[in-house]
Amino acid sequence: MSVEKEKAMKVDWEVTRCETVEVEGIPLTTKSYAIWDKIWAFQARPDDLLIATYTKAGTTWTQEIVDMIQHGGDIEKCKRAPTHDRQPFLEWVVHESLPSGLERAKKMPSPRTLKTHLPVHLIPPSFWKENCKIIYVARNAKDNAVSYYHFHRMNQLMPEPGTWEEFLEKYIAGKVLWGSWYNHVKGWWRAKDDHPILYLFYEDIKENPRQEIQKVMQFLEKDLEKEVLDKIIHHTQFEIMKENSMANYTTTSPEIMNHKISPFMRKGAVGDWKNHFTVAQNERFDEDYKKKMAGTSLTFRMEL
Ligand code: A3P
Repeated sequence: MSVEKEKAMKVDWEVTRCETVEVEGIPLTTKSYAIWDKIWAFQARPDDLLIATYTKAGTTWTQEIVDMIQHGGDIEKCKRAPTHDRQPFLEWVVHESLPSGLERAKKMPSPRTLKTHLPVHLIPPSFWKENCKIIYVARNAKDNAVSYYHFHRMNQLMPEPGTWEEFLEKYIAGKVLWGSWYNHVKGWWRAKDDHPILYLFYEDIKENPRQEIQKVMQFLEKDLEKEVLDKIIHHTQFEIMKENSMANYTTTSPEIMNHKISPFMRKGAVGDWKNHFTVAQNERFDEDYKKKMAGTSLTFRMEL
């Protein structure tokens, strides 16, 4: 391991699972809350691109696709730094001794690509004022829940998940970081009618990456040769990204992300929920889902 990498991975503070506090009904970490006024006052620039997702919906995947498009399919350029350095995570604070996503974003030259998990009503107003382009990615609720559970297990900054059974109840109730999946996906679905938002689905990218990456290219007004598109499709597939240390979060200290418990690049599949939900859990989930998703035109595929 290089000296730089070793230094970057060194954690000289105690890693503890975060406390949460609600901001307008949405659980955020106390560390985000401590700088909430600054997050809310964040000054977006007109050429900012925001990648917004409910966490575990395929954010990192989309970030890599976008970076590859922006760099004309140059793999080496996309390996210049880990994902979170290339595209700051706006509201995230790892530790007070480290620069927050907000500080990283402020220092970044334009054009910037930023990441957020905030629900639509907590997006800093300057993004709307500047009419920034936003890519939103949504993933079906069941796979999203399973992925989120395993992420809680491996990421020692996340709240204690409890058992799968316990976690699922918290997820259904929206008592998890960034709140209710249901309100998140519905809120952003409504917002797309009034703002320049490209709304994508994890399942669609998985099924037809060519078509979905082309949508992103069009949205970003980038016209790339077929060979470049082929290269982007190849470089952003799960098996390749799993081995890419600049995209798989293995440069983060193992005290924070313990890939031995569950790798960040875990399964990358549609329908893995079937290996986790019991029949009873599935019935209960479906019944509640119907109520919460009634009246929206938004639909999801739980399998391909
Ligand atoms: P699983 O835990 O189901 O494997 P996020 O980046 O929003 O945190 O989402 C992480 C989820 O996206 C994980 O899901 C991860 O494996 C999956 N993922 C990351 N890169 C992917 C890719 N190239 N193709 C498919 N899934 C990917």
